[in-house]
Amino acid sequence: MTNQVIRTIEARHSKRSFLKKDVSVETVKKIIESASNAPSGKNSQPWKVAVLTGQTRNELSEEILKKFDENIYEKPDYQYNPQPIPPEYRERARQCGFSLFKLKGIDKDNKPQRKEHDRQNYLFFDAPLLMIFYINNVAEKGNFLDTGFFMQNIMLGLLSEGISSCPQFSVASYPDTIRKVLNIADDQAIVSALACGYADDSKINTFIPPRLPVDDYTTFYQ
Ligand SMILES: Cc1cc2nc3c(=O)[nH]c(=O)nc-3n(C[C@H](O)[C@H](O)[C@H](O)COP(=O)(O)O)c2cc1C
Repeated sequence: MTNQVIRTIEARHSKRSFLKKDVSVETVKKIIESASNAPSGKNSQPWKVAVLTGQTRNELSEEILKKFDENIYEKPDYQYNPQPIPPEYRERARQCGFSLFKLKGIDKDNKPQRKEHDRQNYLFFDAPLLMIFYINNVAEKGNFLDTGFFMQNIMLGLLSEGISSCPQFSVASYPDTIRKVLNIADDQAIVSALACGYADDSKINTFIPPRLPVDDYTTFYQ
């Protein structure tokens, strides 16, 4: 299959180093509008998105870093993975982390290096534009699912315009700071951030974690 949609789906991977080149907010607005064609239960469209550039983007980064650098953490608005994490998820997550460290020449037992690696998340990997996805905090799993479809549409729409991205739960793990800086009401839950920009040609951006063979997770019935 070689059509453009499939090519874009296959080309989307998370990028973690960006050029100092602004992203057009007008273009982003059009992509968000297209992305809103995502399906949602009874067309409920539960998602909300904040688009940050310039001073606000920098302020959020600085406010989170003030805490991160002091080893102060906030409680995310929802738990991303079950605890304990099922062994098969854990193994893939470990592999993903270690492969990233290897590519960056980080020794996995070197805590300062690992902290610096994590810190890059709060610089949004130098991406000039950050999105924050949020929803009403009474949301259930279905509403989160809908928000994920919307996010994926945005990532694909961005890429169709040459703009790369990286979803960031790490950033969403500072929900109180996000709400404070963006003046978002307390009854809103922070779902994820998305760093957006033009990817540079750093080694880190060659990272594509392997996918399972389709038959490992697909059952065909007749
Ligand atoms: C909701 C969500 C949150 C994520 N949070 C982070 C993050 O905080 N930092 C990061 O470097 N990557 C993050 N990722 C990227 C994943 O590591 C990445 O999607 C996965 O390894 C698959 O790689 P690919 O996106 O390059 O195909 C996140 C992905 C998702 C879907």
